[in-house]
Amino acid sequence: CGITAYAGKENALPFLLQGLEKLEYRGYDSAGVTLVSSHHLETYKAKGRLTNLEKILSEKEHPEHTGIGHTRWATHGVPSNMNSHPHTNESETISIVHNGIIENYASIKECLLEQGYKFQSQTDSEVIVHMLDYYYQGDMMYALKKCVQYLQGSFALCVVCTDYPDCVFVAKKESPMIVGKTDTAAFCASDIPAVLDYTKDICALEDNQMAILKPGSIELYDFFGDPVSMKWTHISYDACAAQKGGYDTFMQKEMHEQPYVIKETLRAHIENNLAMPELSGLDVSKINQIYFVACGTAYHASLYAQYLLRTWIDLPIYCISASEFRYGNYRIDENTLCIFVSQSGETADTLAALKLSKENKAQTLAVTNVLGSSLARLSDFVLYTCAGPEIAVASTKAYTTQLVLLACLCLKLAALCNGDVENKYNMINQLKQMPEVVEEMLQQEDKMAEFAKLLTNQKDAYFIGRQLDYLSVLEGALKLKEVSYVHADAYMAGELKHGPIALIEKDTVVIALATQPSVAQKTISNILETVARGAKVILITSKNQNAEGFDYVIRIPDVDPLFSCIPATVLLQELAYYVAKEKGCDVDKPRNLAKSVTVE
Ligand code: G6P
Repeated sequence: CGITAYAGKENALPFLLQGLEKLEYRGYDSAGVTLVSSHHLETYKAKGRLTNLEKILSEKEHPEHTGIGHTRWATHGVPSNMNSHPHTNESETISIVHNGIIENYASIKECLLEQGYKFQSQTDSEVIVHMLDYYYQGDMMYALKKCVQYLQGSFALCVVCTDYPDCVFVAKKESPMIVGKTDTAAFCASDIPAVLDYTKDICALEDNQMAILKPGSIELYDFFGDPVSMKWTHISYDACAAQKGGYDTFMQKEMHEQPYVIKETLRAHIENNLAMPELSGLDVSKINQIYFVACGTAYHASLYAQYLLRTWIDLPIYCISASEFRYGNYRIDENTLCIFVSQSGETADTLAALKLSKENKAQTLAVTNVLGSSLARLSDFVLYTCAGPEIAVASTKAYTTQLVLLACLCLKLAALCNGDVENKYNMINQLKQMPEVVEEMLQQEDKMAEFAKLLTNQKDAYFIGRQLDYLSVLEGALKLKEVSYVHADAYMAGELKHGPIALIEKDTVVIALATQPSVAQKTISNILETVARGAKVILITSKNQNAEGFDYVIRIPDVDPLFSCIPATVLLQELAYYVAKEKGCDVDKPRNLAKSVTVE
């Protein structure tokens, strides 16, 4: 979900709506705002996209100077007007927006029902507004302090009240919230792009903090009500980086930004023979095992890092999905290095895994794209990808910058752990070629658009590869299903005949990767087995591989096989993108998905 709030001397609504638009990537099942005047609250909600809400709001003037807004991704309760935020108390004097999950909402609800409170929605969030009402006796800070004591789970919360027509009250625990101000206004939001048109100086609230926003000022407190000093960060990227810049969609724009952002990421980390000063203080002598932990696309990037490190160093290296890591019985201790990979730095499962690792005394390293994100703040060490804001739900540039940064990190760790990297300098030079290599792949866009037509009327697609190619097809299949809704599965090519081949029939589409010289010929044999059963094969392979007899072949440039996944990934992104475009899908906002999954 996404939250915006404004307390200032100008009208609140323009800020709230522009901010929600920038946050729509966090969810778009429904949206709502509450505007405050001294006598009453005006709440507007609409199911579906933000434009539905905007239509309702355009029917009259809205001169109020204080307000809160929300764009929702349903967790408890179906998407509907009733379940949309803001939620308001019965006397319509207090209104709240909430992002996160209140784990003990059922028991709180029971108590409130006994006290005679009536509930309108099926959401966990609604308990908050009634609990505030219960504790409110003329002092909202007191009520909020009481409330946060009882709430279990995660929350980023904004509260408005008719008794405080100039203020927004904010509380944060485990869900992101940033605040900013100008001379005449103060505002908050779930993510930085929502405020960039207004200010470039932001403060990311930490867990267990509360704030009061007033026109031109912000007061920050801990959950006991003691004042806390604010830590400001200047954001250098421009608001226009969060616009489409001439492309049809954010996804296409972000795919085309890859040469530049890869270059930036390399520039930040490869200099001075991989000096990586961010890692100073890491006690390498203690490390006897390394875990990579992540979700979704970042998990695929982590599998790549695991593969590289296994090749280069002689330690057990694991890669676990964060949602499994939390509940698995992994032996994490002070001799473990845990590396968390996350574009947003806010994914709930990844954050929980980080906290668990810290409790077990592991050294922790975050690889993230968002400055000051929770993951970055809570980890012992941080490395940033320099992808800039990624708006499209399906990750593209964040993924490829993760791949290059993780390759640099693995080279560095190999050096620190006396690993065995054949020709490290050649590796570094190869990485430096990646911006051009990716550019070359982007120029093949038309060819991939042609190949994509094979899939427009298909219900299923099968991706196959061996070794590193298998990791690339995992991401290729994920991208295709995310944006085009074509059911896609990735298989190790050698596993094909142990089951999946039963599904291959005339005109089934198989996307095969054969870029790893040591196993490419074996993959080709597996592809031929599918051709024999009538499959149409799109083959992505290296320059010198014999690909006679295949109709749809595309080749990647000459690179070290350990890096061929980078150009191959770009081709697979293009394939997914054009299938989705052909089918008329909403590429940037696929159904049911959210960019940042801040709930478990
Ligand atoms: C969501 C997004 C994915 C992303 C995953 C992990 O599912 O839709 O694109 O890979 O979360 O997000 P993170 O921000 O932790 O990389």
